[in-house]
This record gives sequence, C-alpha cells and structure tokens, in this order.
Amino acid sequence: MNYKLKHIPVMKKELIDSLQIEKSGIYIDATFGFGGHSNEILKRLGKNGKLYSIDRDPNSVRIGNNIQDSRFSIINENFSQLFNYAKNKKIIGKVNGIIFDLGVSSFQIDDCNRGFSFKNDGPLDMRMNPNCGISAADWLFKSNVNEISSVLKNFGEERFSKKIASAIKNNNKIKKITSTLELVDIIKKATPIRNQFKKHPARRSFQAIRIYINQELEEIKKVLEDTLKILKPGGRLSIISFHSLEDRIVKRFMIKHSTKAIVPYGMAITEKQIQTLKICKLKIIDRVLPTQNEIKNNPRARSSILRIAELQG
Ligand SMILES: C[S@@+](CC[C@H](N)C(=O)[O-])C[C@H]1O[C@@H](n2cnc3c(N)ncnc32)[C@H](O)[C@@H]1O
Repeated sequence: MNYKLKHIPVMKKELIDSLQIEKSGIYIDATFGFGGHSNEILKRLGKNGKLYSIDRDPNSVRIGNNIQDSRFSIINENFSQLFNYAKNKKIIGKVNGIIFDLGVSSFQIDDCNRGFSFKNDGPLDMRMNPNCGISAADWLFKSNVNEISSVLKNFGEERFSKKIASAIKNNNKIKKITSTLELVDIIKKATPIRNQFKKHPARRSFQAIRIYINQELEEIKKVLEDTLKILKPGGRLSIISFHSLEDRIVKRFMIKHSTKAIVPYGMAITEKQIQTLKICKLKIIDRVLPTQNEIKNNPRARSSILRIAELQG
C-alpha cells in the first residue's frame, strides 16, 4: 500500500457542520476512505462520543486501524450491511448522524495497481475490495456484446456503447485485455475522433464498468431505507454524491420520505389511515454545492452534491 497517496475530503466543513455534532453523540461514517471526514468528527466529539466507520476497501480499513482512539471503531464491510453492523453494536435507533461520501477516493484512483485510472497503466481490476467479486478484466472477458454495451449505456451514458462493446469483444477474442491502457486504446479506436477532444474518451466507460463491478447503485439502494431505522429522531443523514445516477437515488429517497401522500377528494379513509398518511419520516434540510474556491483547489469536488435530511420524531 502506498501511503504517499492521499485524498482531499470534499465539502468537509459543510458535511460535518450538517451533522450538528453533539459531544456525546453516536455517529457513523459509512465511507471511511482516507479518514478525512472521520477524523473531523472525532475532533468535534467529546470523550463519551462514538464513531463507527465502514469501508469495503481493506486498504482504507488498514488506515483506520492506525487510529488509536477508544471512541472509534472501523470494519471492512459493504455499507449495504450497515443495519447488521448497527445491530451488533446495539445502536439501532440511537444514532445521531450518518454520512456517506460516495464513489471512489483519490487514494484508490491514483493507485495504478487498482485499475481505476484511465490515465495510468495498471491491472484492469477496479474492485474496491480486491478480495470480493470479479475483476473488470474477467467480467469483460466473459460477457457478451449486449451485456457490456448495456452497462456502458446505463452507467456511463456512453453514446458509442455498442461500438465500444464490440471492439472489446473482438480484442478479447484475440488476447484477453488485462491492463487499463490496453482498454483505453481500444475505446479510443472505437470512438469517433471528433468526440475525443472535450473529455477523455474512456472516462464514461471506466465510470460505467467501475459502477457495475462494485454494484455501486445497488449498494446505495439497499442501505438508504435502513438508515431510517438506525437514526434516532432528530438524527441527520448527509450524503455526498458525484454523479447524477447516485444523486437521483438519494434525491428520490429523500423526497419519498418527506412528502405527504395525497388522498383523492371524496375517497373514504379512516382516522387511523389519516394519521399514517400524515407521517413524513424525513425533513429535507438542505442541498449544498461546493464553492468555486474548493473546486479550484480540489477539482474532484466539481460534480459533488451534498444532500442533508433529518429523521422526524
Ligand atoms: C469518496 S471516498 C470517501 C473519502 C472519505 N470521506 C475521506 O474523507 O477520506 C469513498 C470511500 O467509500 C468506500 N465505499 C464505496 N462504496 C462503498 C460501499 N458500498 N460500502 C463500503 N464502502 C464503500 C470506498 O472504498 C472509498 O474508500
């Protein structure tokens, strides 16, 4: 593991301020990463506070294990397992705040051995936990053109998904694609030259394959409903997402639980049903974007959106 790599936390102040940290509160950081947000929470907690962190990447957990602080613990797990983690720790319904800083860290992208980068050569892996699941190289090798094309289209909004998928398949028939720059070269050749100037031609495909390999959207969908059981009334849920696919899931979830149902005029309804309909589990608190200054200093922040909601009593 290369400790020289680092990660600048995005919207650190905004995210941690949104939690309105209570000194003896219980908090969860579901995406520990390089620990930037976790460390800030620890700074603001008193001696009776608690922070439980999670990351699916064993390298991140190794960094977390270096934190010598009795208020802190970390596990190597997917955040879709957050409910079980909270149950084991006996903190269901007691948590003051949960944060998610979705996606991959610079710590992962900049390490060419992980295969996330289309700029540096490395093994075509892309798993956030290299001990689980199937690598990008193996998946591309075993999948057919339609499967690859639909991933590129659905998770990368790639216009040339079919062309790129066919090129990947044809190349894999001759020799298995095993490195990131081999894949970049194939994508470049399959993309019309005129589309190669604005953004890197492999950016969308790499994003799509990474999202698929790590089942990133499924992970978010699975955990969100559980956060409602884990938080205590008044507890805060603060989520930073980096692209529209993630943000759409978060936004819809927050709207769904903060909107009262509308009963058509004249429809028969009991007193008990009226009470149930009135319950909104969440109150939307804010939607925050990074400042221009932050984007200048940390271009990764460019596409980030922070959404904050509060569990109703
Ligand atoms: C953007 S980074 C978080 C950076 C962190 N907030 C910091 O300040 O250093 C996202 C982290 O979440 C982890 N991650 C992404 N999806 C996950 C999931 N489903 N379960 C657990 N960890 C996940 C990644 O491994 C990565 O380390």
